[in-house]
Amino acid sequence: MIFPIQEFENLETPFYYYDLKLLESTLKAIKEAAHYANYHVHYAVKANANPEILRVIQQAGLGVDCVSGGEIKAALNMGFAPSDIVFAGVGKSDREIEYALKSDIGCFNVESIPELEVIQMIASRLGCNANVALRVNPDIDAHTHHYITTGLEENKFGISMQMLEKAISYCYAQPNVKLIGLHFHIGSQITTNEPFRILCERINDLVKQFAEKGVVFTSINVGGGLGIDYDDPDRNPIPDFKDYFDTFNKYLKLSPKQHLHFELGRSIVAQCGSLITRVLYVKEGLKKKFVIVDAGMTDLIRPALYQAHHKIENITSKSDVTDVYDVVGPICESSDCFGQDETLPLTKRGDLLALRSAGAYGEIMASQYNCRNLPGSFAK
Ligand code: LLP
Repeated sequence: MIFPIQEFENLETPFYYYDLKLLESTLKAIKEAAHYANYHVHYAVKANANPEILRVIQQAGLGVDCVSGGEIKAALNMGFAPSDIVFAGVGKSDREIEYALKSDIGCFNVESIPELEVIQMIASRLGCNANVALRVNPDIDAHTHHYITTGLEENKFGISMQMLEKAISYCYAQPNVKLIGLHFHIGSQITTNEPFRILCERINDLVKQFAEKGVVFTSINVGGGLGIDYDDPDRNPIPDFKDYFDTFNKYLKLSPKQHLHFELGRSIVAQCGSLITRVLYVKEGLKKKFVIVDAGMTDLIRPALYQAHHKIENITSKSDVTDVYDVVGPICESSDCFGQDETLPLTKRGDLLALRSAGAYGEIMASQYNCRNLPGSFAK
């Protein structure tokens, strides 16, 4: 990636830099790969709700997957059509449900019978109907970090396959709830298609099983989860969307009347974002050299929370000589470390470093721990 370093010089660090051209190319690749008439791609707003990012995604014509009233509000303000909004989440509050119903969103992805009861109660009070898809926990191991796997029986998400029939009967008994489909999401940062293939098979079995009982689902939502290349973002700036969508096309048996929904977050926005930080000090320890930067785990928590690694580049130094450093932030926690034994060009105070692939779950997860400012952003 080529960084507009001149323009960075006047900006206060740390900040998120978003390459909007790359985002646009990524969205174009999605549109080409998901060209099937009944495929609908939603963007999972939780990955990044920066208005510049949302604007480009809205203009590309995607729908959205929201997990809070705040995300629904951000999406509506950005001009997404209410019918293109799905509302997911295991703990929707009464206030959020009411707001979503009044906004006339497309569908609630419902995670339990108690939630259905509340939706029915509020919809009846408001005199409206709620479209509902039941989130099924398909018990599939997505082979990803245990904090971001969601489709296993032991996870809190969804309704188990054994309890699905009861939930479906419950829906039919509610006058203000209209069951339109099933929803799945098996985890995030999934880097092989095998878990998605298994998901298709699970869905085929379920759809067939319920079709025999006269239950027809017009909408199937397979969630998100497609992973990206954190090791070498320039090798794969755009994920292999063709392979991903073709997997569903190949293995999922849909009738022409069924709509297939996707909720992609990371694969859309991760590679277009970098966290830009300035080197404060280069400190010689007894055994190590530390590069201390002005960004910390408050700006990008993924390394501290998931042992994630973001490629680190010195975008200032032109030196051919390299050295080995630990790159750490200023927060009073040992986990505030972006990389150990990183080989970088000779690095000095004032240099700018880019932490790559930080467009997803970066800025949006920033906090003010230590009374720090939230990171700024610059999109181009
Ligand atoms: N749909 C549902 C129901 C989800 O829970 C998620 C993500 C998505 C879609 C979007 O998944 P994606 O395409 O981005 O993988 N903070 C973690 C990731 C948490 C993902 C939570 N759910 C991280 O930084 O790795």
